[in-house]
Amino acid sequence: MAGDRDLAVAFARALVPPASGRRTGWEMTAATGVRGLRLLHESEAFASFVFSESNPEAFRVLSGNVARFPGARALESDSRTAPSDAPFDYVDLDPYGSPIAFARTALASARLGGVVAVTATDMMVLAGPQPAACRHRYGAHPVRGRLGPEGGLRILLAYLVTTAGSLGRSIRPLLAYARDHYVRAYLEVVAPTGEPPPVEIIDPERWDGPWLGDRGPYGPLWVGPLFDAGFVGRLEVPPHAARPEEVARFIERLREESAVDRPFYYEANVLASRLGIPTPPSLRSIEDGLRARGFRVARTHARPEGFRTDSPRSSVEELVRQIGSRR
Ligand SMILES: C[S@@+](CC[C@H](N)C(=O)[O-])C[C@H]1O[C@@H](n2cnc3c(N)ncnc32)[C@H](O)[C@@H]1O
Repeated sequence: MAGDRDLAVAFARALVPPASGRRTGWEMTAATGVRGLRLLHESEAFASFVFSESNPEAFRVLSGNVARFPGARALESDSRTAPSDAPFDYVDLDPYGSPIAFARTALASARLGGVVAVTATDMMVLAGPQPAACRHRYGAHPVRGRLGPEGGLRILLAYLVTTAGSLGRSIRPLLAYARDHYVRAYLEVVAPTGEPPPVEIIDPERWDGPWLGDRGPYGPLWVGPLFDAGFVGRLEVPPHAARPEEVARFIERLREESAVDRPFYYEANVLASRLGIPTPPSLRSIEDGLRARGFRVARTHARPEGFRTDSPRSSVEELVRQIGSRR
């Protein structure tokens, strides 16, 4: 997770005002504390950080680590209950598996205008293979297959916005992504807007975006943006990054993607096989064709061959058929 922690540091450095140095942070499930300690030490955004850890052995290691950093304080505690210093400007929740047990405390413990960062690694549940567990845990029917991880991210966001709503709050994603074996979201905690949140149950027959399969209806899913494009534009590789090239590539991809922030992405080979076209068209030819028709297109962080577009599916399919018939 070193690259992911680099991105966390990049995130904190991009907060406005930059490098204010006065924020307070709480790492709810700290283990050794490496994530929060890097944020405290490398981002210049924090004055203090509290670390909670319930496992006595992990807490001993955590205490030793924290002692070397001014402003850091370790608590041997169950973080389903917030420490007395709450609310915080930034709350980081990175548990084993599902964040559900901690979600309410996390969302209640950030000040309004603050940030909650949440990781989930229970991808068997969120991304489709265990639909009954997903219904039980998140109250949602998951998308299966290649789009399952993004579906999982959107299920988690729908769950979090509903939980925030029950606290008289709402959330606004600044940066949310699906990667390897996990999903992670950085969310601004905001006052409710009065509008219902962008959460939907998707009926695959009526859905005009990328084909999600025929095991729906899917969700409830967050169908709003995953990115604040202005914020993503401020992300930079931090000076002490452990994986600078990896993070640079990821940030570059997020920048492109945040300009076409539509739910789910297409892939040429998936489109071709659904349409019975033997050789998938090149990504470049699809991008050029969609742009020539006035649509926007961007690659996605979620898969190297994937692309998002604001075109309806019918136009994407028509274009792919046309390119296929020219071969
Ligand atoms: C995935 S690890 C955290 C990794 C860490 N955030 C990092 O980036 O290295 C999850 C940790 O949460 C701790 N934990 C589990 N339940 C907890 C609870 N109720 N309160 C506090 N810590 C808990 C576990 O002991 C474990 O050390």
